[in-house]
Amino acid sequence: MSKEPSFTIPNSLNEHWMPFSANKEFKENPRLIVGAQGVYLKDHLGRSQIDASSGLYCNPLGHGRKEIIEAITKQLEQLDYCQPFHQGFGGSFELASKIANQTPADLNKVFYTICGSTAVETAIKIAFTYHRLNGNEKRYRFVGREKGYHGMNIGAMSVGGMPNNLKGYDNIMMPGVLRMRHTQLPEHKFIQGQPDTGAELANDLEKFVQQYGADSIAACIVEPISGSVGIIVPPKGYLKRLREICDQYEIILIFDEVVTGWARTGSMFGSQEFDVTPDIMTLAKATTNGIMPMGVVVVKDEIYNSIVDKAPKGTVELFHGYTYSGIPAAVAAGLAVQDIFEKEDILSRVKNLIPYFLDSLFSLKDEEGVENIRGYGLLGAIDLRSKGDVAGAGFECFKICYENGINLKSTGDSLILAPQFICEKKHIDEIMDKLRRSIKLYLKK
Ligand SMILES: Cc1ncc(COP(=O)(O)O)c(C=O)c1O
Repeated sequence: MSKEPSFTIPNSLNEHWMPFSANKEFKENPRLIVGAQGVYLKDHLGRSQIDASSGLYCNPLGHGRKEIIEAITKQLEQLDYCQPFHQGFGGSFELASKIANQTPADLNKVFYTICGSTAVETAIKIAFTYHRLNGNEKRYRFVGREKGYHGMNIGAMSVGGMPNNLKGYDNIMMPGVLRMRHTQLPEHKFIQGQPDTGAELANDLEKFVQQYGADSIAACIVEPISGSVGIIVPPKGYLKRLREICDQYEIILIFDEVVTGWARTGSMFGSQEFDVTPDIMTLAKATTNGIMPMGVVVVKDEIYNSIVDKAPKGTVELFHGYTYSGIPAAVAAGLAVQDIFEKEDILSRVKNLIPYFLDSLFSLKDEEGVENIRGYGLLGAIDLRSKGDVAGAGFECFKICYENGINLKSTGDSLILAPQFICEKKHIDEIMDKLRRSIKLYLKK
């Protein structure tokens, strides 16, 4: 990193209640990041770390991208904020067109939110509104999936299926949510790509139709690849089967592409990679290279038209929106990201890197303590042998990784990899070397 960051440890760490963190432990031994450039982060002890998960899958174009910083600065100098209801500014329309030009089929209408969670919340609301306005107000049930993750507000949490997130909150979850079984089968061991078995698990959706009636189900929401739980790749044919069932029973299919969107799988969207088009798609994270909060809901023309055409002209068609829906700085970041994707042909770069990444990842197969590896595109997960740590092997090993110059995400007993798209082969080598060393150290501990 060229410039030395000027940084002092804050006087007090007590007031900030940190998200998804072991607060008490952190405050005894803080991990503070003080700088970031390209594929590297720097901690408060001056140590360099390679960013092996693009933060939370956020920064695939690398840290400190001048083009994005300059675009945001320019936008802020010209127009820092304008409230987004009943008025707008040019950039948000321009970005919406760029997004709609890339999303598949007639997914052409773009609603901005603040983050992935609010994108999912909005998708839930749009799906329900569509049915209600078409005379099907009894369609209030949403079908999610075990081990799914869609965010942390009440709607997104309700349709998710990660046990630790849900534990203790039953009484305040959305009513009527059903969960299909997840697709991580015991026989899915060290599979690079899509498993051959498990497509029939999609029939869980049809079983719900038989049990509760199609006329009670609004939508089915899944991540094309489940990210947060540790990269569960859909079995071959699974997503297609979900699509068939949704078509048959007029259930809206929502793909949460907050992680898989924007080239992570080797296609621009998971839906293109797996050749299944949803009715609604949610995006966030990489949309702005993670540096400005933004969520996006992309909706099929038919759904938009059906809602908008039913309202009298001059009235609000959907009573929904956020103070920060598509604010100028976030939009400027989004437009700069689009430029970089185009100029640097990021999609080809990702496609070229994928085989090297996956082969390197699966080379860890024979390491002691590695129980399973999953990988698809530039996404990978390593399950570690549990040593009975209360917080899980993933978090324990994450701490060792941090000390050994590699920064990544962990969940349960797993480590998650989502390298930046700007990585070169030497960076992938560095990630794997540091991982190997950290896993050995974790097992010795
Ligand atoms: C698939 C998916 N959906 C939604 C979310 C929630 O996004 P956010 O944290 O921006 O609210 C996440 C976050 O990791 C995610 O992985």
